[in-house]
Amino acid sequence: MSPMPTKATMQVPLLDLKAQYAEIKVDVDAAVKSVMESCHFIGGPEVKALEEEVARYSQTAHAVACASGTDALLLAMWALGIGPGDEVVTSAYSFFASAGTIANNGATPVFVDVDPRTYNIDPHRLEAAITPRTKAVVAVSLYGQCCDLPAIQAICDKHRIWLIEDAAQSIGSEWEGKRSGSMTDFGTFSFFPSKNLGGAGDGGMIVTQNAEYAERARLLCNHGAKPKYYHSLIGTNSRLDALQAAILRIKLRHLDRWSEKRAKNAALYNQLFEGSRVGRPYHEPRTRHIYNQYIIRVPDRDGLKTHLGEKGIGVEVYYPVPLHLQKCFASLGHKPGDMPHSEAAAKETLALPIYPELTEDQIRYVASSVREFVDV
Ligand SMILES: Cc1ncc(COP(=O)(O)O)c(C=O)c1O
Repeated sequence: MSPMPTKATMQVPLLDLKAQYAEIKVDVDAAVKSVMESCHFIGGPEVKALEEEVARYSQTAHAVACASGTDALLLAMWALGIGPGDEVVTSAYSFFASAGTIANNGATPVFVDVDPRTYNIDPHRLEAAITPRTKAVVAVSLYGQCCDLPAIQAICDKHRIWLIEDAAQSIGSEWEGKRSGSMTDFGTFSFFPSKNLGGAGDGGMIVTQNAEYAERARLLCNHGAKPKYYHSLIGTNSRLDALQAAILRIKLRHLDRWSEKRAKNAALYNQLFEGSRVGRPYHEPRTRHIYNQYIIRVPDRDGLKTHLGEKGIGVEVYYPVPLHLQKCFASLGHKPGDMPHSEAAAKETLALPIYPELTEDQIRYVASSVREFVDV
């Protein structure tokens, strides 16, 4: 290997949305201008077109735009009638919304440990968590890789419970050629700016193959009104702005190329970490991995994080506390040791920059900076 740099000789942010904007500025600016001139800010043709395009992209029959990935989860469970007295099983290791939305629907989250290789819910542990009160499973496809949905679906079918895929991080991922969001009762996407398909603000979408479920979700997003001012259900206001939809439609055209570039960046990191003590992400061979995150694993994660910060490299810990140990879920009675794989992941994992606009030099700099700390 070439001599290791010792000082910050380069700046590498965790994400560079300015670089992305520079690439698509002409089209994004024109789309924004067109919405401003139309003054059609809520609903309308841009939102409808985005719904159709995301449905096609995710191989689903129906898509309903909403205000965020959190709302997409909340509304999917709401549409299925999940509420007080019900249990919903989910991963112990995810972004908070996967579990928070279960509780916000009045149901009880029941946590299951993850597979230590993929960080996705372990189907082998799932069945033991199902009780007569279980109504659904929220399976999170974390970091850009589908969880084992066929195995999870088989368990859900056996127990006659619903399956929702939290696909906030996995739009475009596939399990044996089937797209994330298309294999379950509901799939939910987030358009938070750091996602592979990220807006210029918050946004989300609910996808489903079931027309009835889609109709219920659509009603709930809009105060249960159809027609306007006639309310068959009590819903809420969770809509996607036309400005967001117009921007997302431009970005959707680039999504596959961007996700491929992320995968290429991951392949280069993998090569640069060969023979090192750095734990590389596991790519489950049945999936298309879209690398929303590139997650490495090292024993002294916090030391490495500090070291990389000093080298001008943006990194992040996704997530420092597993869900079963969050203070707000203390009443569930969990203690350290209950979910060993989730707890170890929370201590040892670190996300490196993986965004599509990274240069090879930047990737080499990040990898050598990691190795100079880990492989001493
Ligand atoms: C796994 C997961 N679920 C749900 C969400 C919630 O999405 P949003 O931030 O759009 O509400 C996120 C967003 O970070 C996520 O990563």
